[in-house]
Amino acid sequence: MHITVVPASPKTGQAAIRTLLADPSGPTVRGVYRDLAKVPAEFKSNPRFEAVQGSVEELSTLDLSGSDAVLNITPPLYDKRDVVAHARLVSENVKTAIKKAGSVKRLVYLSSGGAQYDHGTGEILSNHEAEVVLKDAAPEVVFVRCGYFMENWATSLETIQQAGFFYTTLTPLDHALPMIAVQDIGATCASELLATGNPLPRTPYIFELHGPRAYTSVDVQKAFEEVSGKKIEMRPVEKAGLGDFYAAVFPPTVAKLFAEMNASFLEGGIMYEDPQPTGEIRRGKTELVEVVRQMFGA
Ligand SMILES: NC(=O)c1ccc[n+]([C@@H]2O[C@H](COP(=O)([O-])OP(=O)(O)OC[C@H]3O[C@@H](n4cnc5c(N)ncnc54)[C@H](OP(=O)(O)O)[C@@H]3O)[C@@H](O)[C@H]2O)c1
Repeated sequence: MHITVVPASPKTGQAAIRTLLADPSGPTVRGVYRDLAKVPAEFKSNPRFEAVQGSVEELSTLDLSGSDAVLNITPPLYDKRDVVAHARLVSENVKTAIKKAGSVKRLVYLSSGGAQYDHGTGEILSNHEAEVVLKDAAPEVVFVRCGYFMENWATSLETIQQAGFFYTTLTPLDHALPMIAVQDIGATCASELLATGNPLPRTPYIFELHGPRAYTSVDVQKAFEEVSGKKIEMRPVEKAGLGDFYAAVFPPTVAKLFAEMNASFLEGGIMYEDPQPTGEIRRGKTELVEVVRQMFGA
């Protein structure tokens, strides 16, 4: 089986490639990188791996020929461009490249919880737009709607290590949210890719991917304390303060989308209410404390 990961440099793409290359069925894997300097050494040395230069923003650079299956990820945008228009462009490019290749039987798209909604989810609107474009891009289409990446908490390491505290935008502090480890996302996407040709119950086939359980801010604090061996203070950012909080680190348009996304999974938000639930939920096995341990290099 020949599988292409486009783009290959996101951490989720890397995790999927790692699982695919370790699989006993021995698939060959092509990774599309906009910058070939980003190809990890562990992949370069593998004879079943090929890295090619390409950008999802430029159709002419996307070569999916010979691929039986494709894993697609929508890269996040941190500049002034319209995220929805950008998601539409890069998804249309991938869809056209799949049609042109003619060999692709299955597309697996790494999506997000809340991608079924066309409003009220901020940055997740990019995943919604991608799902709209990609729903019929190949004979078999799978959308893996992931929970909050456990690795997002790595942004807290700086204040923890310098001053013994972290900010949390997950409030109230006992509100539990589905979270998932990147290595479990990679493993799930890999297994869906390797199942190409096995009949799906329907297409697009959609499921949510959560960790072994949902976690609260207090659980995050406990994980940081357990791994660091120190008392760690939590500084909650209330819902009303999300706009200012994100505006301190992102350009205004991006900050607005992040604040809306964050509010969408707090009480009153559309993901909290979830009027159109996805239905099927699958669970990864990695606990939050294991991911925190990896962050600390412990
Ligand atoms: N974070 C969460 O909690 C969460 C939850 C659910 C779903 N998601 C979804 O997951 C996706 C993000 O995945 P991620 O966190 O794995 O991303 P990531 O690690 O932040 O990686 C983004 C990568 O995209 C690459 N890239 C950007 N523009 C590109 C282009 N034009 N062509 C090719 N590559 C390009 C960048 O490549 P370079 O290395 O060259 O810079 C970078 O490595 C998003 O669609 C997001 O909505 C995230």
